[in-house]
Amino acid sequence: MKFTKILQSAATIGVFGFSAFAAQAQETIKVGLIAAFSGPFADYGKQMEGGIKAYMKQHGDKVAGKKIEIIIRDTTGPSPEIAKRLAQELVVRDKVDFLAGFGLTPEALAVAPVAEQAKKPMIIMNAATSIITTKSNYIARVSMTLPQVSGPMAIWAGKNGIKRVVTLVTDYGPGIDAETAFKTNFIGGGGQVLESIRVPLRNPEFAPFIQRIKDAKPDAVFIFVPAGEQGIAFMKGYRERGLAEAGIRVIGTGDLTDDHVLPVMGDAILGVITTFHYSAAHDSPENKAFLKSFADANPNGGRPNFMAVGAYDGMAAIYEVSRRLNGKIDGDKAMAVLKGLKINSPRGPIMIDPVTRDVVQTVYVRKVEKVGGEVYNVEFDKFANMKDTGK
Ligand code: PHB
Repeated sequence: MKFTKILQSAATIGVFGFSAFAAQAQETIKVGLIAAFSGPFADYGKQMEGGIKAYMKQHGDKVAGKKIEIIIRDTTGPSPEIAKRLAQELVVRDKVDFLAGFGLTPEALAVAPVAEQAKKPMIIMNAATSIITTKSNYIARVSMTLPQVSGPMAIWAGKNGIKRVVTLVTDYGPGIDAETAFKTNFIGGGGQVLESIRVPLRNPEFAPFIQRIKDAKPDAVFIFVPAGEQGIAFMKGYRERGLAEAGIRVIGTGDLTDDHVLPVMGDAILGVITTFHYSAAHDSPENKAFLKSFADANPNGGRPNFMAVGAYDGMAAIYEVSRRLNGKIDGDKAMAVLKGLKINSPRGPIMIDPVTRDVVQTVYVRKVEKVGGEVYNVEFDKFANMKDTGK
């Protein structure tokens, strides 16, 4: 597989799968991948790129006689303005057949009108605010939504001796969705939410809030922060300020125990219970095959997380659409294929709801444990057939 990277202004532009410059438009199916590849959320793009490489390593780079070409665009984000401009360029100049990627909600929301106007299928590989799929008829989501994974956490907590909770979420779409779904389900089950704290997306300071949580003396703190380093910072403060000793448990969505950063979180994260759609420890032949091809295609990639899986499944969707349309991609026909599409994902079977174009899947309850000396999210319970409940 050819793989080149070219620097252009603020955005890193790469092409892999096939050289964009040698290709004739009619010989290729072009996928514009928009995500952060630099800045605080650089791992999001890298995980997605890694998942795509894993898929293409396993399934080849040709469908219906055409090469699949991935054109990478770096938003440097969170940066909705750059994401929108990149999407416009991909549509107008590069003439892509699909828009894909989108780690961060504000970037997905900014691109939705471009997809709608250009009638380009837009495959959401992570961004998880419920409302995103309502912003264009050309959007399909293969990742998750925060209401979908947060409701089960509240239900599980209520049934397992947790009665009083403080919530702490990042103050933007997915965090507010997580807070709302958690509260609705937890209070509905007879629980009490003592306080709801929101922290900024950029450079949050956890220390003062962690003290407030300690003072409130809840049974547990429910937390959503976007995957990556913020989870590490929160857990460090939680341990340092002695919340564990005070008997305050941590529960949350699996963004907190992101598989990619979990190995460096150390013992601080052991015992944390989360609900989520993917764990690298998921026991299935599909996940074993995914982990193997991810490692083969990304020798220094570390452990893949849910964004790599979202991208891998997004490619499965793109390949299936391309196959069914015999390589001639039309926006409306592509959406007709995507509606109701079923994929045997590394996380288990998933389906794209034909009405909402949102993902339907099993949500697992997991506990962070050591398995053979390494730290994993070990699944021990599940909520089958979960739809998004945020719309
Ligand atoms: C989002 O911006 O939608 C988002 C980002 C990171 C996550 C989940 C959701 O872990």
